[in-house]
Amino acid sequence: MISRLWAKLGKSSPKAEMPQLDKVPDHVAIIMDGNGRWAKDRGLPRIAGHHTGMKAVKRVVREADRLGVKYLTLYAFSTENWKRPKDEVDFLMRLPQQFLEIELEELIENNVQVRMMGIKSDLPSYTIDALEEAMERTADNTGLVLNFALNYGSRKEMIDAIQAIAGDVADGRLTPDQIDEQLMSERLLSRDIPDPDLLIRTSGELRLSNFMLWQLAYSELWFTDVYWPEFNEAHFQEAVLQYQSRKRRFGGL
Ligand code: IPE
Ligand code: IPE
Ligand code: MG
Repeated sequence: MISRLWAKLGKSSPKAEMPQLDKVPDHVAIIMDGNGRWAKDRGLPRIAGHHTGMKAVKRVVREADRLGVKYLTLYAFSTENWKRPKDEVDFLMRLPQQFLEIELEELIENNVQVRMMGIKSDLPSYTIDALEEAMERTADNTGLVLNFALNYGSRKEMIDAIQAIAGDVADGRLTPDQIDEQLMSERLLSRDIPDPDLLIRTSGELRLSNFMLWQLAYSELWFTDVYWPEFNEAHFQEAVLQYQSRKRRFGGL
């Protein structure tokens, strides 16, 4: 429609800037925030925002895959989110099951591998069962790794790692001088995943909210005011474009 209009005006259509496909971040992590405010603005209950947020998850998974991102980590529920009203927590716990019921077949078709990063033991069985089924059925897939951070908290993750390391030292399996960055990384829940190259947070909040504090040490950060349920392919492209314009120095020159 718009291109026809431009043709009529005798101009070539304006080409939107597209990410360079050879410089796409390997690992994008997203703090999907603003569901509640999105709903409130529309006079809807907060859970309506969470429900609509699933559509944004679908869009972003497809777009990340299309661009050649290798790992996509989505912060879906933090260890602090248990403080919310029970009804909301219950609804959030049902979402993985709902999402996978609709999307798992397509994820399998697209060679996506589903993973989960978080404390499984506190999750209801229907949540964990749905995720485990998805992880099992996609375990051999070699495409995009879709990593759900669910009941995830970075401080707890680090404390658990340190306790395990301390146990190994106490039992003589490790000496203190063997503790280095690599060992620590291998003890975290993200052990099989490289550190994020790009972190996106939606909804205008400028904080990490206990998300991947160790792993984000040198990630590029990108914030947008857009609420998660409205986040779309163009926003994702904008973030990747920004990432591509950054110069990562890792402390060097
Ligand atoms: C993000 O949206 C989803 C979760 C944290 C589970 P919020 O529910 O935090 O929405 P806001 O920040 O209250 O708008
Ligand atoms: C972070 O969002 C957690 C998730 C997106 C799952 P919150 O909405 O819980 O973060 P705060 O409370 O605003 O820091
Ligand atoms: Mg929030």
